[in-house]
Amino acid sequence: MDKDKYFLALKTAFASEFCFYLKAHNFHWNVEGPLFTQLHQLFGGIYEEVYASIDDFAENLRKLDIYAPASLQKFSMLSTVDDENNVPEFQAMLQELLADSEKMSSIFRITFDMAEANGDHGLSNFLADRQDAHKKHSWMLRASLK
Ligand SMILES: [Fe+2]
Repeated sequence: MDKDKYFLALKTAFASEFCFYLKAHNFHWNVEGPLFTQLHQLFGGIYEEVYASIDDFAENLRKLDIYAPASLQKFSMLSTVDDENNVPEFQAMLQELLADSEKMSSIFRITFDMAEANGDHGLSNFLADRQDAHKKHSWMLRASLK
């Protein structure tokens, strides 16, 4: 296992998760439209769940002696979840966050396999839980688009 590749994948997953959290909080604040209350709450539940995982994620990186990326510049350099600088219509918010949540599930599937191959089973448990959490977020976002 190429350690550099493994550690970079973990830092990328962490930065992407932080950017995903920020986007869900952005949409919680800025959503408008006839479904305001429901979507404000939906985005609220998602950002709270993801934010609650961030500290454990950073501490899991430190257990491997990886420094946690922790600046806006580092996050934007590493993240695969793009910033949203505008205020999209509510349907576009749902579609965008769904695509990002599916991307996060896939990142956690890949990093889980890397952690398993490296014998980091505590970390792989954490990554499996994150994949599952994003599958649930994706379900709720997808159901809101029908
Ligand atoms: Fe709030």
